[in-house]
Amino acid sequence: MTRKRKFIVFGQPDIRQEDIKTVVKTLKSGWIGTGPKTEEFEHKFAKYTHAKYALAVNSCTAGLHLALNAVGVRPGDEVITSPLTFPATVNVILHCGAKPVFVDVKPDGNMDPSLIEKKITKKTKVILPVHLYGRPCDMDKIMAIAKKNNLSVIEDAAHAIEAWYKNKKIGSIGDITVFSFYVTKNLTTAEGGMITTNNKKLADKMRILSLHGLSRDAYRRYSVKHFSHYQCLFPGYKYNLTDIASSIGIMQLKRIEQNLKTRVKQWNMYSQGLERINQITLPAMLDKSMVHARHLYTILINLEQMTVNRDQFIYEMIKRNVGAGVHFIPAHMHSFYRSKYGFKKGDYPKAEFIGDRTISLPLGPGFKTEDIKYVIKVLHEIVQRFSKKN
Ligand SMILES: Cc1ncc(COP(=O)(O)O)c(C=O)c1O
Repeated sequence: MTRKRKFIVFGQPDIRQEDIKTVVKTLKSGWIGTGPKTEEFEHKFAKYTHAKYALAVNSCTAGLHLALNAVGVRPGDEVITSPLTFPATVNVILHCGAKPVFVDVKPDGNMDPSLIEKKITKKTKVILPVHLYGRPCDMDKIMAIAKKNNLSVIEDAAHAIEAWYKNKKIGSIGDITVFSFYVTKNLTTAEGGMITTNNKKLADKMRILSLHGLSRDAYRRYSVKHFSHYQCLFPGYKYNLTDIASSIGIMQLKRIEQNLKTRVKQWNMYSQGLERINQITLPAMLDKSMVHARHLYTILINLEQMTVNRDQFIYEMIKRNVGAGVHFIPAHMHSFYRSKYGFKKGDYPKAEFIGDRTISLPLGPGFKTEDIKYVIKVLHEIVQRFSKKN
């Protein structure tokens, strides 16, 4: 009976009729590149995140690259970050010619601030925390260490659009924060991202760098009544977001708080439905002074009590028509980083512990209550079938 069920696709986007209508309207508007819709999206996003400036880009990866460039990360510099992240966080450090320096994580998956200072050298320029799964990092501690050592803080908030740290919105704390609008994210424009900052100099620099280093963007070059030339001020990049994507983003941003309520409801359903399973560890407790963006509901499989490993566990979920994700295989365990820097198993044991056991469950407005109930049932079934018998 379970086999006939429609497959529950992990990371399903929430695309509605209003998103489709707005795209069609933009397509017919006569301007589909970066223009008025992108400007509107930037203003609305800056307001939502309590940041002074927002710059729309075509991915979080592009945004992180611009951010590192803008604060002056150059060849030979070092950037301190978490190994428990998507490779993009680390790759952009190398794109600047710099070296990633990892600090291990706490049981909740976020960078452990007590390990940062030991890793600071004369070459360190930036601390790059990742708000993993949507849970804010300990920003008071990270900001204090950065201030004391004269370092910039660039936050990877790919998972953390709705998050608050104490009474501050994520996006308004570090020197620069970068968000992702990739297909699986809480707000999607298919591909896209947003950079926020309160620093005008950095904002201006990133805006110019995001579009070839030109002094004037295309919308302003072609849409004003008088003709105007532009200058190339730096060898910049091509990281701008289109108005087609931005028009989807505006609609998605309208629903983000409503969708968060759905995520919270589903989160609580999982926590209640799975709490009696000893073979599964649920996400760490939520700190009441923070708002978790609830991007990913991740469980840890207690491998010592199971006859299957994590990947086999996911395979059993897929056989029962439930998709899942792994967030993440730690960056230092990827072949490129192992061979370039000589990383090996055991270097960041807490990140590896999570990396070996973690499974992300379907979460978000794309899923119905009965889908979540079904996932819970499937997890019970797999645990029962593959538990070690004492
Ligand atoms: C933690 C983290 N950082 C950065 C990225 C890169 O985001 P994008 O695909 O928008 O470049 C991702 C994407 O999944 C991510 O999960």
